[in-house]
Amino acid sequence: MRSSSLSSLSPESRLAAELRRVAEAGLTRRRRVLDSAASPRVRVEGRDMLAFASNDYLGLAAHPDLARALAGSALEYGAGAGASHLVNGHLRPHEELERRLAAFTGFARVLSFSSGYLANLAVTPTLAAGRGDAIFADRLNHASLIDAARLSRARCHRYPHCDMAALERLLAASDAPVKLIVTDAVFSMDGDLAPLPELFALAERFDAWLVVDDAHGFGVLGPDGAGSLAHCGVSARSRVVLMGTLGKAAGVGGAFVAGSETVIEYLLQKARSYIFTTAQPPALAAALLQSLELIASGGARRARLREHVRQLRAGVEGLPWRLLPSETAIQPLVVGENEAALVLSRKLWERGLWVVAIRPPTVPPGTARLRISLSAAHTGDDVARLIDALREVARD
Ligand SMILES: Cc1ncc(COP(=O)(O)O)c(C=O)c1O
Repeated sequence: MRSSSLSSLSPESRLAAELRRVAEAGLTRRRRVLDSAASPRVRVEGRDMLAFASNDYLGLAAHPDLARALAGSALEYGAGAGASHLVNGHLRPHEELERRLAAFTGFARVLSFSSGYLANLAVTPTLAAGRGDAIFADRLNHASLIDAARLSRARCHRYPHCDMAALERLLAASDAPVKLIVTDAVFSMDGDLAPLPELFALAERFDAWLVVDDAHGFGVLGPDGAGSLAHCGVSARSRVVLMGTLGKAAGVGGAFVAGSETVIEYLLQKARSYIFTTAQPPALAAALLQSLELIASGGARRARLREHVRQLRAGVEGLPWRLLPSETAIQPLVVGENEAALVLSRKLWERGLWVVAIRPPTVPPGTARLRISLSAAHTGDDVARLIDALREVARD
């Protein structure tokens, strides 16, 4: 609808017109209600489905040890934190979780957050706060990193996906006093890894911060699941700031930022999305302490996940859709048009398989895809079932 005809509408009718436009473009999103715990085998809308959709990469979300730790801690510390961390909502389990995460990631200090979205909103606008500062962001960064850059007064330069030559040119041309390179470690809709050693070398050369969002690598990659930095051999250094989420492989919820003593103290004093929000319920921190144990001893889970990745990639060779190059649990099958991705997702659904279609604006137009998400909780037979179904749909 044209803006001139829109302007004659009431506020409510404008929203309705926009919703119709979204629907006509095949972009309406909808939620499905699960009547079972997060797991590959879910009960949804009266059906038993095999899901390849969640970020529960290690299969910990429904682990009884986590549920027991959560319940026990809730009985001791209550259901809620009651206040923000800086008022009186910083309880012993929060403190213990931060201490353990620092040891686990090798950074000097950690700050815990209620979500990865809030953690990202804390880092970029706080470290690059001035108008003259500059942010350098990969074009495929997660929405929360994009929003974080929007909250900052700094100028944001977006470089083509993983293009280190383009980033180098932008850095060389910048005279900003504060430079911040910001990247997903594992790209959430593509599954590929950022070139972290090259990014770190550029950060060193141009005296920039390197902010790494490891939402999809923490727990999954690296020795003991320490994450993408460890996987790529980039050790904890003072110019590196790491964000990890705790609602994906860690199976609970929340997030953390790890860095030097000074960076973390600075965020604690200044980051608005840390200061002005209620602390996560302490029982979640207690469940996360248990989750860290299972992650550290989770070599067999990670090996099973790697085997599923290998099996899937070999099994879908020759299909009409392109599986993007990815060694991680995120295996995107690019279909192209929105409607075609929805049809493929629906045909799998009819066969008892739940694989979510991802469309713009989450991914660039023309690259709608199925985001196949693998978990250590899947079995080899589950993966074989998905491969067979894809082959059957392709034959139809
Ligand atoms: C790369 C990335 N960063 C940040 C987030 C946000 O994390 P959270 O779900 O904990 O808010 C996500 C979640 O989808 C993500 O994929």
